[in-house]
Amino acid sequence: MSEKKILVTGGAGYIGAHTVVELFRAGYHPVIIDDLTKSDTTLLTGIEKIIGKKPTFYQGSSCDYDFLRKVFQKDGPISCVMHFAAYKSVGESVHEPLMYYRNNINSLVAVLEIMQENNVKDFIFSSSCTVYGEPDTIPVTEDAPFKRAESPYGATKQMCERILEDTHLRNLRIISLRYFNPIGAHESGFIGELPIGIPGNLVPYITQTAAGKREKLTVFGDDYNTPDGSCIRDFIHVVDLAQAHVKAMEHLNTLSDKKLYDTFNVGTGQGVSVLELIEKFEHITGVKLNYKIGSRRPGDIEKVYADPTKINNGLGWSTKFSVEDALLHAWQWEQNLLKSSNR
Ligand code: WQD
Repeated sequence: MSEKKILVTGGAGYIGAHTVVELFRAGYHPVIIDDLTKSDTTLLTGIEKIIGKKPTFYQGSSCDYDFLRKVFQKDGPISCVMHFAAYKSVGESVHEPLMYYRNNINSLVAVLEIMQENNVKDFIFSSSCTVYGEPDTIPVTEDAPFKRAESPYGATKQMCERILEDTHLRNLRIISLRYFNPIGAHESGFIGELPIGIPGNLVPYITQTAAGKREKLTVFGDDYNTPDGSCIRDFIHVVDLAQAHVKAMEHLNTLSDKKLYDTFNVGTGQGVSVLELIEKFEHITGVKLNYKIGSRRPGDIEKVYADPTKINNGLGWSTKFSVEDALLHAWQWEQNLLKSSNR
């Protein structure tokens, strides 16, 4: 393992944990911080099973300056920070806007200020396709204008990107990765998506329904202006997404620039509807899904999927897994959870 220590905030969460595994695989030394408010130690245990050793982990909030200072002092020097620590449910943010603004904005500002205190230059930010709002043109490219965010969650990501644009001038090198819809799980079945309580996102709700933990999935609307009436998204395998973070960090290492702000869409470039995803899940797993059509969910946008040209060419990254792979891995993870009666 290289001496290069990478601070991973929110590293006990879904995307953070998968990125920790990919960082280990690439020979780096991830240092995880997480307050465990939206996750627990299940994924930390899963990471240990995959990499064969306990990952470096500190429990605490990315909003807590003293806690952050302690981590940088204890486990520095940090060569790059990957910032995942944020709340991320579109639906929940509509009901709890202040919780989202406080956590998502304050954690970013705190981490950036402590980075500057410690002269850490490189920063990878977990952004989202929700910054585009309902794009006029799809597939969406990075130069698409930010329309009014359809949810407080999307608004926090827009504000965070503005903060990063204004801050990079202070000799920081920053890449914002705009995720589309992360789904699936590591093929080992040891880590995956682990929503606490009722899942806000589609795929964990599908797998929990298929596993009998939920009685029925509700499809939030089939009266959109799409071929089958349900919303369209760009579902990307979480391991592909995790690998994009390693590529982005290594790209920064090749640059001589002292300061930089760049953004990349991280998606497959394929749009899949909610009803198509359900059909793919049933086909791949052989499990008939119990679902009904309900009313639209406030905050949802109708259709969005990425144009991944810039990241393909700029970072030499492209997806390796299909949507079908992601659904199968998500189902394997759900079945493992059932066996370990973890959830
Ligand atoms: C997808 C579609 C729902 C649940 C996510 C992340 C967000 C960001 C963008 C990374 C929508 C429908 C859902 C259900 C349903 N990613 N749905 N029944 O809202 O696109 O946002 O991707 O930053 O963090 O949350 O994802 O999975 O909630 O919804 O019909 O029970 O599935 O209406 O059309 P969303 P989602």
